[in-house]
Parts: sequence; structure tokens; C-alpha cells
Amino acid sequence: MNQKVSLTGIKPTGMPHLGNYFGAIKPALELAEKYRARYFIADYHALNTIRDPKMLRDLTYEVAAAWLACGLNPEDVLFYRQSDVPETFELSTILMAFTAKGLMNRAHAYKAMVQSNEENGKDLDFGVNMGLYTYPVLMAADILLFDADVVPVGKDQKQHLEMTADIAQVINANYNNKLLTIPEAIFHSTGQVVQGLDGRKMSKSYNNTIPLFVPEKKFRKIINSVVTNSQGVEEPKDPEACNVFALYQLFATEEEQAVLSARYREGGMGWGEAKGALFELMNEQIAPMRSVYDSLIADKGAIDLILQAGAEKARDLASKKISFLRKEIGFA
Ligand code: ADP
Ligand code: TRP
Repeated sequence: MNQKVSLTGIKPTGMPHLGNYFGAIKPALELAEKYRARYFIADYHALNTIRDPKMLRDLTYEVAAAWLACGLNPEDVLFYRQSDVPETFELSTILMAFTAKGLMNRAHAYKAMVQSNEENGKDLDFGVNMGLYTYPVLMAADILLFDADVVPVGKDQKQHLEMTADIAQVINANYNNKLLTIPEAIFHSTGQVVQGLDGRKMSKSYNNTIPLFVPEKKFRKIINSVVTNSQGVEEPKDPEACNVFALYQLFATEEEQAVLSARYREGGMGWGEAKGALFELMNEQIAPMRSVYDSLIADKGAIDLILQAGAEKARDLASKKISFLRKEIGFA
């Protein structure tokens, strides 16, 4: 076992979809086989947008159950909720003292908000809270607290990782010492961008997602809504230009792909049949995970126990790191 640490967080802002699964969850779980893995639910980050307590609680359970159903083994992976580790917030305050305001001014999410205010003739600070403005500092605290070596994330997080490294370097330079581990981002989404129902990148923002875990009937309905062209049953079809086939490829073996591809090209196959084949194959693979998901969601106490155990282990590590930093900084 590689002693290096892999760490990542997912915000509880929605039920994970197939894009999240192939782009984030699956690769992170593969890394967990080689690295010491620390995966968490970034609920403080979600607070910037989710202000309904019930919704925040429900989404936290959904994301936790989804990770577990996808195969996260809490015996091997330290699995916890960010809000259960208050050391994160102490470190965040320490990091603030070393973070240039100018660095935060350059953060993409903040800049996008300012730009949209400018375009709409609003006050530039309209809708900008300090949670959004200092988002990269909190994320740096998540990462530096656990001495992460690698952070598997999507390309959209590149800048946040660079900022984390910047902040850590300023601190290390000041204390003439190696207080913090400089993390490296691993971009897992480069290999595979999963396309959504309409052929664009699958994303909550485009409303074109296939959620990982919904009841089978609803799942079938969603698969039936994959956008296809208007070719008739008898016409030969091009699998390479088809959203149904693109999704099929994610789940199918080479042989299965060859068989369906031939059905496309020979004609006589309607979209209903292609979608039926897609549903059957996806459902066969997702159903076992879905039943684990359903039983976890029906027994939230089991999720609580797992997260509590994770919180204890995480706090144990985090408090050691914080004690060390307090001494080095001159607080103790
Ligand atoms: P969304 O775009 O639906 O809001 P997030 O930004 O919350 O998704 O995604 C979390 C992570 O899941 C991303 O950083 C990325 O790595 C991965 N991901 C999201 N959508 C896709 C996709 N369509 N294909 C591959 N990976 C994806
Ligand atoms: N910002 C990440 C996202 O939007 C979530 C996140 C919070 C995270 N803290 C992190 C990811 C620490 C990796 C490491 O997807």
C-alpha cells in the first residue's frame, strides 16, 4: 500500500449522476486501492447555496449513500462529513492570515459572479457572500489538514488546487520549515466526459442528467427520454452519431457493442429497441448498487454510524496536525 494520501470532497448539492460516477466516484475509488484515501462530504461548501436545513440533511444522506453503494468501504477509506471536523475551520482561519486578497479576487466562481453583476448593471458585490469569496481558503484547509498528496478532481477545480499550493508555499516559506504538504491535482475527467440526455456534457446545470439512483420505473422513463433523430425503423443508423449508443458504450463489453452496432447499421431497428437495450444493460449493472442505496436510505441510522466513526478518526488525525501547527506558529 502506497503511503501517499488521496483526498477529495463532493458537495451535497444534488443526487450524483452518471457523469459524477464515471468522472469522479469510480476513479476516486480506484485510487483508494493504492493510496490512503480520505473522502468527505463538503457540506460547509454547500451552505453557500443550500439554505434549507431539511434539504441539506437529505442531500448529505443521498451523497453518503451513493458513495457507499458505489463501493466505498469505510474500513479502507476514511469517510466523513466536513462539518464534523471543526479543526478544518481553525486551519481555515490560520490560512486567512497568509492569503492575499488579490488571490481571492482572481477565483473563477467569484469573478463570474462579479461579471454577471456588471453585465446586469447591479452592484458588483450583489449576491457575493464571504463564503463564496473565501471558498478557496476553506477548500485549502480541507486538503492541507490531512496532508493530501493527490486530490482527484474535475478540471474545473484546477485553479482551486493551484491556490491551495500557493497558500501552503507562503506558509512553508515563512516558517523556514515544511509545515504543510503541497498537494497535486489528479484530473480524472480528462479521459471520459459523459454526455447527457441531449448529447451535451452531462451536468446538473444543463438539466440533462441521468441520476445514479432512482426507482427502476423512473429510470426507464429517463432512459426513454434520451434524444434521438427522426429516422424511421427500417433505416440503417449510425451508432457513432447516436446519444443512446454513446451511453451504451459506458456499460457494454466490446462484444456487446459490436452486436448493437451491427443492429444499427443493418436497419430494421427502431429507437425504442435501442433504448430498451440500453435500459436493460444499465439496469442490470446499477440495480445491485441501487438496492444497497435503497436499504441505506431506509436506514439513515446506519449512515450516521459510519459518518460518526469517520468523524472520530478524522478528528484524531486533524487534531494532531493542528497541535503541531499551533506549536510551530507560536500559539502553544
Ligand atoms: P455538475 O456539472 O453536474 O454540477 P459537479 O461539478 O458537481 O457536476 O461534478 C463533480 C465532479 O464530477 C466534477 O468535478 C467532475 O470531475 C465530475 N463530472 C461531472 N460531470 C461529468 C461528466 N459529464 N463527465 C465526466 N465527469 C463529470
Ligand atoms: N470544490 C469542490 C467542488 O466544487 C468540492 C471540494 C471541497 C473539494 N473541498 C474539497 C474537492 C477538497 C477536493 C478537495 O467539486
